[in-house]
Amino acid sequence: MEKYVINGGKPLQGEVDISGAKNAAVAIIPAALMVDGICRIENMPQISDTDMLLTILTQLGAEVRMICPGTIEIDSRNVRFCDAPFDLMRKIRASYYLIGAMLGRFGSAKTTMPGGCNFGVRPIDQHIKGMNALGAQVDVRNGFVYAEAEGGKLHGAKIYLDKVSVGATMNIILAATMASGRTIIENAAREPHIVDLANFLNSMGADVRGAGTDTVKINGVERLHGGSYSIIPDQIEAGTYMVAAAATGGEVLVKNVIPKHLECISAKLRETGTIVQEYEDSVLVKGNGHLRKANVKTLPYPGFPTDMQPQMGALLCMANGTSVITEGIYDNRFKYVNELRKMGADIQVDGRIAIFEGGAKLTGAPVMACDLRAGAAMVIAGLCASGKTEIEDIHFIERGYENFVGKLRKLGAGISIVDYPDEPELHEKVISIG
Ligand code: EPU
Repeated sequence: MEKYVINGGKPLQGEVDISGAKNAAVAIIPAALMVDGICRIENMPQISDTDMLLTILTQLGAEVRMICPGTIEIDSRNVRFCDAPFDLMRKIRASYYLIGAMLGRFGSAKTTMPGGCNFGVRPIDQHIKGMNALGAQVDVRNGFVYAEAEGGKLHGAKIYLDKVSVGATMNIILAATMASGRTIIENAAREPHIVDLANFLNSMGADVRGAGTDTVKINGVERLHGGSYSIIPDQIEAGTYMVAAAATGGEVLVKNVIPKHLECISAKLRETGTIVQEYEDSVLVKGNGHLRKANVKTLPYPGFPTDMQPQMGALLCMANGTSVITEGIYDNRFKYVNELRKMGADIQVDGRIAIFEGGAKLTGAPVMACDLRAGAAMVIAGLCASGKTEIEDIHFIERGYENFVGKLRKLGAGISIVDYPDEPELHEKVISIG
């Protein structure tokens, strides 16, 4: 077992390169299943979620070749319909994209119910509603999802999502790409990774229009051909380094980003007194060590992302004044608060609202990464705290941050990965992954 050990108190200084977007990559890899040719994908983040999906594709018969770090080729021409590795599917949320991709490719799909960070109930009813509208019969039994297109092929449909859902929007785009006729998704999510998936599919011959707005139109095509594509930079990885720079009072140039995607984060950091300067493909973040309170409400894009909420929480517990965070997406995304309290933070939670009594002087402590972004929040807290912080369950963090420790060390952080003995009783613990 491994944990992070952080000797905090050093402002981050220097430059960091941002990797490809996890939440785009985890849809683009399943999308490659539908391509009748070779897809070359650049800026692929090297994280455990993409590793697992590539393994799933390989087991379905795709050939995956690493050309160089961050560039892969996927050849799905020999893929056949078979049982995919369910143990891997169960571990990741994004395995739900295999439903849309397999329906598109084979007219049927069998997957497990997706895993995912445990933020309360995370239903997939909107995915199923979309697949039903496209002409698929979907049954969920004993933790498995069985989907079958009537007559072996999906058809276009008009679908109004009852809830703005990133996953449902992308899954319906995948399924509709090779359906016959036209699909219209209303009340679609607008996240940058949705645009990226549409751009990937279009560069392979699909006809997806309006991604990035709340109405996406897909004209089904017969076939997708091979091609090359480069994944957009990760908005949340970039935001995490921005908050870490501000929280530690450092100065960091966050490179290889699309500043427009970061505006909601930049604006919130400016409210805390942090200087954020935008350049063409980078942002410079300068913290001055005097953070001011700010209120945050998480919302679908272009609102403040829920995936930045814990990191911002780590910063706000140190800011002067009382800050309020309202979680607008999930029922239960404040589990990290207990861990921050162990380090001296004063935070009260009531349902989806957390009140941060600022001004805490954090001190190092043994803590846990409760999930991916909660783990990132604990790293930020550890970087700011006096003394030593030890973070366990770092496998959650490594699902979504490429070379986190290496990048932070390059910025001067006192962080390392340390082996520690595995305790047998930990195997009994029920862990949620996502
Ligand atoms: N929802 C439903 N029914 C559905 C789908 C969603 O009620 O059929 C609800 C969810 O329970 C939630 C809200 O709608 O309350 C939004 O969920 P959404 O479908 O947008 O989220 P997701 O697709 O499950 C993706 C990311 C998450 C990110 C959310 C929101 C992936 C693999 N996951 O999840 O990323 O929090 O969008 O932006 O793309 C992360 O990267 O740390 C992460 C958790």
